[in-house]
Amino acid sequence: MIDIRDLNLSFDGVNRVLDGINLELKSGEFIAIAGPSGCGKTTLLNLCAGLVEMPAGEHVHVLGAPPKLGSDKVAYMLARDSLFPWLSALENAAFGLKVRGVPMAEAHDKATEMLQRVGLGGFEHALPKALSHGMRQRVALARTFAMPAPLLLMDEPFGALDAQTKLQLQDLLLQLCQENQRSVLFVTHDLAEAVALADRVIIMSSRPGRIIADVSVPLERPRSIRALQTNDLFHHTYAQVWKHLEEGWTHHEG
Ligand SMILES: Nc1ncnc2c1ncn2[C@@H]1O[C@H](COP(=O)(O)OP(=O)(O)OP(=O)(O)O)[C@@H](O)[C@H]1O
Ligand SMILES: [Mg+2]
Repeated sequence: MIDIRDLNLSFDGVNRVLDGINLELKSGEFIAIAGPSGCGKTTLLNLCAGLVEMPAGEHVHVLGAPPKLGSDKVAYMLARDSLFPWLSALENAAFGLKVRGVPMAEAHDKATEMLQRVGLGGFEHALPKALSHGMRQRVALARTFAMPAPLLLMDEPFGALDAQTKLQLQDLLLQLCQENQRSVLFVTHDLAEAVALADRVIIMSSRPGRIIADVSVPLERPRSIRALQTNDLFHHTYAQVWKHLEEGWTHHEG
């Protein structure tokens, strides 16, 4: 799904933002990336989405080819403000399908089904301003999963939510991934979220961003956020990931 080899990236030709990144995302795999602010996580996702110009001579392949902006094989979900304020929940959820040429009736049927699936049945005609932030992120999830894109790029999609809503949406994402086989590259600052959701957690160092750890998460699926709270392996893996992140800070300071 994604194949990045020894990638170096600099925006100004002087300061390196990404340094020697090797990353392989296999089909059906869920990788979480964590690391200090400014280490290049969003840049990495933007690169995969075709939003950053590919540096010459670098090897970044997404679904077997260099990244292409607007590919219908890739869906991108952000932390906030990704809905169009003048469109209803239904029109927002159907948007990704419509721009990809799916007939209106079919797009609306799929969007209606997905809004129900994310717990927003009855809110089809609400505008984003009439929805809470958590509800807006549910609409964004509905839009993301309404599209048949095999690769999902998610940049702190639950980052700006309160703790309770965050846990609910993590659980919903676990279920959606269970029902629809997708490959996911998921950026988060929340290590518990990374361990709960992912098959592998990648830790980056502060700028220039290097990969300093790649931890396999040995938790079975299906998972539920509630069950994980009392799972020793979950807490053990969390502690392991935390230690790597801490090493990254020390490494930087040293
Ligand atoms: N388009 C751009 N032009 C110039 N510099 C950029 C551009 N995009 C990002 N940068 C720089 O690249 C570095 C990495 O930024 P990026 O947004 O990828 O970090 P991040 O890991 O996502 O941080 P955060 O956790 O705060 O979201 C930063 O120093 C940023 O200033
Ligand atoms: Mg970012």
